[in-house]
Amino acid sequence: MNMLPLLLVITTATAVTLGVSLALAISRHRRIEAARGEREERLRMITAQMPAVLWSTNTDLHVTNCLGAGIAPLRLPGKEVVSTAMFEIFRLSDQNLLRMDELKRALQGELVVYEVDWQGQTFSVHAQPLTDDKGRIIGTIGVAQDITARKQAEEELRATQMQLIQAAKLEIVGQMAASVAHEVKNPLNNIMFAVSYLKDTLGDADKTVSEVLAQIQAAVEKGTRAVRGLMDLAAPDELRLQPEDLNKIITGALQMMKHEFATNQIKVETHLAADLPPVSLDRHKIEQCLLNFCMNAVHAMQPNGGTLTVRTRLNERERAVVTEIDDTGHGIPPDKMDRLFQPFFTTKPKGKGSGLGLAVVKTILDLHHAGVSIANRPEGGIRITVIFPL
Ligand SMILES: Nc1ncnc2c1ncn2[C@@H]1O[C@H](COP(=O)(O)OP(=O)(O)OP(=O)(O)O)[C@@H](O)[C@H]1O
Ligand SMILES: [Mg+2]
Repeated sequence: MNMLPLLLVITTATAVTLGVSLALAISRHRRIEAARGEREERLRMITAQMPAVLWSTNTDLHVTNCLGAGIAPLRLPGKEVVSTAMFEIFRLSDQNLLRMDELKRALQGELVVYEVDWQGQTFSVHAQPLTDDKGRIIGTIGVAQDITARKQAEEELRATQMQLIQAAKLEIVGQMAASVAHEVKNPLNNIMFAVSYLKDTLGDADKTVSEVLAQIQAAVEKGTRAVRGLMDLAAPDELRLQPEDLNKIITGALQMMKHEFATNQIKVETHLAADLPPVSLDRHKIEQCLLNFCMNAVHAMQPNGGTLTVRTRLNERERAVVTEIDDTGHGIPPDKMDRLFQPFFTTKPKGKGSGLGLAVVKTILDLHHAGVSIANRPEGGIRITVIFPL
């Protein structure tokens, strides 16, 4: 029997089967390759867009990889960093050089976590040893995350907590001061009454006695003013709000200060807007604020005098009335600026200022929901800006 045709058939069938298997294997291989390519591309995208800096180094602490979107703000393209020594990258800051020790610890097998300041930003760094498949340490690997915003928020929170503690302390001091003031107010009134009685009874017969009485009277008046200031600070909450003409209140306060201005060679200029709508405020309390501002301005312009300028205007967009009080005095040293409204803060000689003026002003303006700010003017003196909401 001729076996040849049969052999041919079997061979052909085998070849076809092998061909089909090969084609299947190739197509499976291609699919696997495509899937791997896709996975790698996805991984590349993720690492490139990761909001952090991912890096690895060799055992000499030269960068071998640097990836992540966190690199961009640092203006350090990954490829420039690769093969640079960590030491070189951080050489600009002494503090960061110390951090090199942490990386050396990572090379010894430790997981290290630390913070580092660099180019005005703060990073939280986690670094650990990088090992090969046999577990041998071949460098370090790490991730650095920009935590500047979180740090700032923490800082602000701490500052707010400190302010709260300070406010709580001041409240207690304020309450104590107010009760002392109450205790002192009546005896002071009695002394004042007694001095007036003695003055009336004795007349000017004895010059020395008259002088002593005048001194007692001046001292008691000063004490009474301080007591009133303390009481205003502690219990200013009985506001009598009414729609008022702010310009009129300003003119009235300036009128009350006329004598002080004249004796201290102070010129007063006013630019009061004619179109001001009525502002809801407690006339007496706002007058008190204006008198405080004016007295401070007089003191700041002593001994040569100067100019006090008061402006009002309507800010329609903000629905507010703005008052500016400028003086040409000695201004305020920048390091004192944030203490001006603190009770008992004064730069005046002992016995001249109690440091309560601006603290009372702030309390009163807060109750009116009015904003107040103080700034040095470039041409000298200060500007006080008060904003009353409408
Ligand atoms: N117009 C100003 N120019 C320069 N410094 C000022 C002015 N107003 C206030 N200050 C500064 O702010 C401090 C606090 O002012 P504040 O009115 O609270 O207290 P005081 O004037 O010292 O005392 P008091 O008003 O209780 O008699 C002043 O001691 C002064 O250093
Ligand atoms: Mg004052």
